[in-house]
Amino acid sequence: MYQEESFKKRIVEWFNKNQREMPWRETTNPYYIWLSEVMLQQTQVNTVIDYYHRFVNRFPTIAALSEAHEDEVLKYWEGLGYYSRARNFHTAVKEVESQYGGEVPSDPDLFKKLKGVGPYTQAAVMSIAFNQPLATVDGNVFRVWSRLNNDYRDTKLQSTRKAFEEELNPYVQEDSGTFNQAMMELGALICTPKSPLCLFCPVQDNCEAFHEGTTEDLPIKTKNIKKKTINQKVFLIRNNNGQYLLEKRQEKLLNGMWQFPMREASVADNLLTQELGVKVETLEEPIFELRHQFTHMTWNIKVYSVPTSINLSENELPSNMIWFNLDNRDNHTFPVSMDKIYRFIVG
Ligand code: ADE
Repeated sequence: MYQEESFKKRIVEWFNKNQREMPWRETTNPYYIWLSEVMLQQTQVNTVIDYYHRFVNRFPTIAALSEAHEDEVLKYWEGLGYYSRARNFHTAVKEVESQYGGEVPSDPDLFKKLKGVGPYTQAAVMSIAFNQPLATVDGNVFRVWSRLNNDYRDTKLQSTRKAFEEELNPYVQEDSGTFNQAMMELGALICTPKSPLCLFCPVQDNCEAFHEGTTEDLPIKTKNIKKKTINQKVFLIRNNNGQYLLEKRQEKLLNGMWQFPMREASVADNLLTQELGVKVETLEEPIFELRHQFTHMTWNIKVYSVPTSINLSENELPSNMIWFNLDNRDNHTFPVSMDKIYRFIVG
């Protein structure tokens, strides 16, 4: 395990000089720090900044977010992906409002009990907002720490995370927020996955992988299980007023978001014949095709234009379907794939 005293000093000094400006680094408000950490999971800093500003302007306090409807919260998350993050954060903030008088608990054990708070979020928020002695181990830190110690343990294993948290523990007894952010920032700016900038690294001397010439081999991640591919058909269905049929998703994935009706290809035609009770002549070739990658699967989407208009009233439609005017986009939250289809339609 890596232990030299000057290590922390070097990395923190480097961070103080070289850190990027980020709006959540200008605040000590734990709610804002928490929001930023939730948005930053799976999403790049540059993408997050605009979302963060808009979110904070609309929901400036825990009380304000607690009162909001989930649909509006999702609207402010639209395009960031991983929407269960937003739903869990909303739920957790409501718990803070009702159980802790609107104050984010500074006790790591209490904070960890909130919906959606895992070991990373717990350590990040507790250290940055309250200097609690917990080490953040995210993808950046796995990479930096594996390389510093020339450590070939599999970073996909829980046991490796636990070991890294323990090994980092001596460094987070004081100023944990700064140290944790310095490690993540080093991973983002210098100790990058490909072609790390070792010549500019403040802790090059401490880096066993640099000395061994193994930086490009680390960190070890056992191969992800191969992603499942699902073939989807999307139907563009219009009525005589030129409105398009939309349905609200009721699955766990992308729950509550709107889509042009979509089904797995093998059962898709049932949507028209059985669910909507309409006869449609054979469909033409798809007018548009796209792929969308999630963490665990890929959607291959073929978009079909249904040639005959369908004139069921909203009362006659299934309860999660509506007719949608193309100029009413702002009132609906779409997943990224549906936004692409929308933009294809409106040209
Ligand atoms: N990635 C996620 N949170 C971060 C933070 N606070 N600083 C640097 N990188 C991060």
